Amino acid sequence: MKTNPAFKSSGLNPDPSELLQDETIDIKLLRELKGQSILSVHQFTKEMVCEISKLAALLQCTKVSDYNPLQGQIIITAFFEPSTRTRLSFESAVHRLDGKVISIPEGKTTGVAKGESLSDIGEMFNAYGDAVVIRHTETDSLDLIGENLRIPLINAGNGSGEHPTQALADWFAILKWKPELKQASIPEDKKIHLGILGTPASMRTVNSFLRMSLLFKDNIKKISIVSELANPFGEELQELINNSGVEFEINNDIKEVLPDLDVVYMNSIAFLGDNYRSLDSNFKIDSKSKLKKDAVVLHPLARLDELDTTLDSTRHNLYFTQAHGAVFIRQALFISVLDRFGKLPIEEINEAVTPALELELTT
Ligand code: CP
Repeated sequence: MKTNPAFKSSGLNPDPSELLQDETIDIKLLRELKGQSILSVHQFTKEMVCEISKLAALLQCTKVSDYNPLQGQIIITAFFEPSTRTRLSFESAVHRLDGKVISIPEGKTTGVAKGESLSDIGEMFNAYGDAVVIRHTETDSLDLIGENLRIPLINAGNGSGEHPTQALADWFAILKWKPELKQASIPEDKKIHLGILGTPASMRTVNSFLRMSLLFKDNIKKISIVSELANPFGEELQELINNSGVEFEINNDIKEVLPDLDVVYMNSIAFLGDNYRSLDSNFKIDSKSKLKKDAVVLHPLARLDELDTTLDSTRHNLYFTQAHGAVFIRQALFISVLDRFGKLPIEEINEAVTPALELELTT
């Protein structure tokens, strides 16, 4: 097996092979995803997130495409809401593994325009593909499309609900940056202070990111939420947070907490439905902001003026790595959900990734 040419984003590019040092990939655990729909972060454990990230790291380092792992598989991407990254990274993931894609780039090109129900569309998908990736404006869209669906369904964002594969991409970037976070527990001075700018109760990326972050609670010193709202969580998330034992605080000015943050998770908080509003400086950062020297910034993108382009060329920029790494996370998900491990020389890979990734495998 050959190594992949290193792809460099602007900003910080942590080496994915760092995630594989002295590790094997627990394929048995990943096989538990076989045939599963991926709807919510609550389906994941910390161990599962780490194993998916390690498989994604392997896919980033090695030319697994030579083994054509998705050959013969058809993935349906059904997007009833605009997307730049999610649809294209899912489709790129499939193409790079030699699968095929059929796509609905916008809902109005389907029978929905004539009043067709999502549950009837779901019934059709059973015959057309082996898995379906859906994004929709409505939170209950997953229930409706799932009524008649018998192939795995991957949630690519359901209204103000969740975006679980984005959270996987977020944590893949964080784990590449600080691989020790996958350990059960790390020394107190190594734990991270996480800042999240946004409203978890109504923003799906923030919601899913926060839920996944709680899986890593033993390695998190504190979580600060920067929001205009006094209670940005809603009832269920508030309970989850209370039960987590993690120290939490809510601020309404990013400047108050920024100098202490190790990870800053921004969001497109300026969007309000199809419109956006201008933000005041409480919710914006740029290269002059008082970031800790080694702090990293994540953003699911698209951005507006909350995240200034002057940060793009700095080592704080982990958001391009986060977006580009999503291709490998989505490849790892397809290989797991469709159980394509039989196409990969996994035992040889596991031998080769321990202790260092020097792959010169031939099969
Ligand atoms: N991160 C994300 O969901 O981006 P898109 O809206 O472009 O898919």
